[in-house]
Amino acid sequence: MEYNSPFILWQSELRVINAKNTQAREAFVDVADVQVGSRVLDLGWEGDCLECLQKTGARVTFVGEDIRAVQKAEALRTNGVLSAMPAQVISDAQVVFYRPAQRSAKGQVFEWIDQSFQALEKGGALYLAGQRNRGIRSYAAYLHAVFGNSKRAGRIGRVEIYSAKKEQDDPCQAPVDNRMTFELRDLPGSPYSVETRAGVFSRDGLDNGTRLLIDCMEVRPTDQVLDWGCGWGALGMVAARLSAKGSATLVDSNIRAVSCAKGNLRRNRICNGVARVEDARVLDQREKFDLIVSNPPFHDGNSATYPLIEGAFRALRPGGRLMLVVMRPEAYLKHIRRIFGHGSIVTQKDEYVVLHAHIGN
Ligand SMILES: C[S@@+](CC[C@H](N)C(=O)[O-])C[C@H]1O[C@@H](n2cnc3c(N)ncnc32)[C@H](O)[C@@H]1O
Repeated sequence: MEYNSPFILWQSELRVINAKNTQAREAFVDVADVQVGSRVLDLGWEGDCLECLQKTGARVTFVGEDIRAVQKAEALRTNGVLSAMPAQVISDAQVVFYRPAQRSAKGQVFEWIDQSFQALEKGGALYLAGQRNRGIRSYAAYLHAVFGNSKRAGRIGRVEIYSAKKEQDDPCQAPVDNRMTFELRDLPGSPYSVETRAGVFSRDGLDNGTRLLIDCMEVRPTDQVLDWGCGWGALGMVAARLSAKGSATLVDSNIRAVSCAKGNLRRNRICNGVARVEDARVLDQREKFDLIVSNPPFHDGNSATYPLIEGAFRALRPGGRLMLVVMRPEAYLKHIRRIFGHGSIVTQKDEYVVLHAHIGN
């Protein structure tokens, strides 16, 4: 079968599937004609398409950057691997499925198209799905540039599916380099040298909310500090520098974020800080802290921030403090007061508000 430019539509080959929900998920998998025993790499296809993939009898490996997604795959008894570099996990896939998550950064999607090329054996194919209003056309153009071929393989409702075949050992263009570096010179404990990657929160500089929290963060020299949802590590690095005889623990559910945070701790020779991947909605009850700081994920609404507040109450020592920076504080402040018995606004600037609560001695 000939592969064409993504912009040329061959109606005879195009599969337009009008199916709903579970049928649609099966239809996604059908487009690739997966065989029993095929080595399939799932990079986050259509959520629970994993179940449909399993029904094909293929040998499926799910690679995800977020521990929660990997745990979900494992719960479905699929081989789930936490990695930001799928090609380091598998290099002989016959089929790769990739549907970029709704809020993926463009550079991160390009990186995973590069990674997919590396993860495929020669003759294997990548199936890339997405909606037009979520950038699928520009991803398809990138797909074509990397593989040197591509075609529109199907459409399900508003979701378009493109495929490309690995026909040669090397990609037709060099992989993207998404790293970015900058210096921060006006924070407590400065200077900090920072390296980030596409796909990490506020990757091109310090977020204004994070800066506001740093401005009013009181860290004592012996404090053990938890940076909840550390991203590339801004709060944790400052906390570690200020708690010279204490320590900072940086946790994030996303391995891309944690690898940046680890690199930044190393780059700045911060030895009293550690970064690790963890779904911090469930904190290890054996670890106790004097200060928990966070700029929590705002897209997840209450689903992350409420468990953060409840977990902080259990994880703080007597006298321990919780400090959060949020945008719409009402519900969070109410929940803090429900759990801690009190809670206050420390400061606010533009749309950001810093909230505080502590455990009595
Ligand atoms: C708004 S960003 C803040 C990042 C960083 N602290 C900063 O201020 O630049 C929120 C971070 O929380 C992480 N996150 C979301 N849910 C999480 C969870 N359940 N456990 C740990 N981290 C989580 C996200 O991956 C993201 O890096």
